[in-house]
Amino acid sequence: MVARIIDGKVVSADVKSKVKKAVERLKDRGVQPCLATVLAGDDPASATYVGSKQNDAKEVGIATRDHRLAATFKQSELVELVQLLNNDPEIHGILVQLPLPKQIDEFEIIAALSPLKDVDGLTPYNSGMLQSGMGLLKPCTPSGIMELFDYYKIDVAGMDAVVVNRSNLVGKPLALLLLERDATVTICHSKTKDLDEKLRNADLVVTAVGNRPRFTLTGSMIKEGSIVIDVGTARLDNKLVGDADFESVKQKASWVTPVPGGVGLMTRAMLLKNTVTAASIAREMSR
Ligand code: GUN
Repeated sequence: MVARIIDGKVVSADVKSKVKKAVERLKDRGVQPCLATVLAGDDPASATYVGSKQNDAKEVGIATRDHRLAATFKQSELVELVQLLNNDPEIHGILVQLPLPKQIDEFEIIAALSPLKDVDGLTPYNSGMLQSGMGLLKPCTPSGIMELFDYYKIDVAGMDAVVVNRSNLVGKPLALLLLERDATVTICHSKTKDLDEKLRNADLVVTAVGNRPRFTLTGSMIKEGSIVIDVGTARLDNKLVGDADFESVKQKASWVTPVPGGVGLMTRAMLLKNTVTAASIAREMSR
């Protein structure tokens, strides 16, 4: 079998064009959607990601604020900044780029965010709503994967899904969204026994490890006809690659996402969608 490609470029462009229209409608009603990004510390990869998110927002007409704290910042300074942004009526979405430096209590920062502006869907309120099946602002990578399934009409009901990631950003919320769609979900991680066997039996594999070549998902590791969603990003021979050895996986899977051009673009598009959702919620609440 040769897999069909799940094209993140096409689907993210579709999401972005809908977001752009929604932004125009909000502007017509006197609301300028605005996303504030917070980059704390001097991690160059995080700086690149934040720059892309700012550019994406501008592209669809979302205004941006760019907040940066030097690497020596204190926990209390970041909490204060978050509170300032929470209370600013012109700001609808707040994104604190993760990971934060080691000395910072990440949970306290996330919990300080207003759930109504939490465009990452990470606050205790939004993650609780998600686990109750009532998520509105949902984490961008998992909801972007659901958007890919919707676009290509891939029904995961009854599938054995294996998710190789247990983070709050990806693995845990994704497991809930797959469960909502009646998949049977196994979350795997570095201590999982018999990962090979679990992968071999999975109808759907979502892999988000990002440690090539130490972990490489090859065609020989998956079931014929399975679906492979590749969330991993790593540099290999100076090239951006996913967890999957794309060529061998393509020969065995029924569907596969490329890297680049797959899930990463969806994560970025869903942040814009969440920002517009947050702006719409703010408008409803002020009426
Ligand atoms: N770091 C890596 N991915 C993400 C993301 O989706 N949101 C935030 N805030 N930080 C990240």
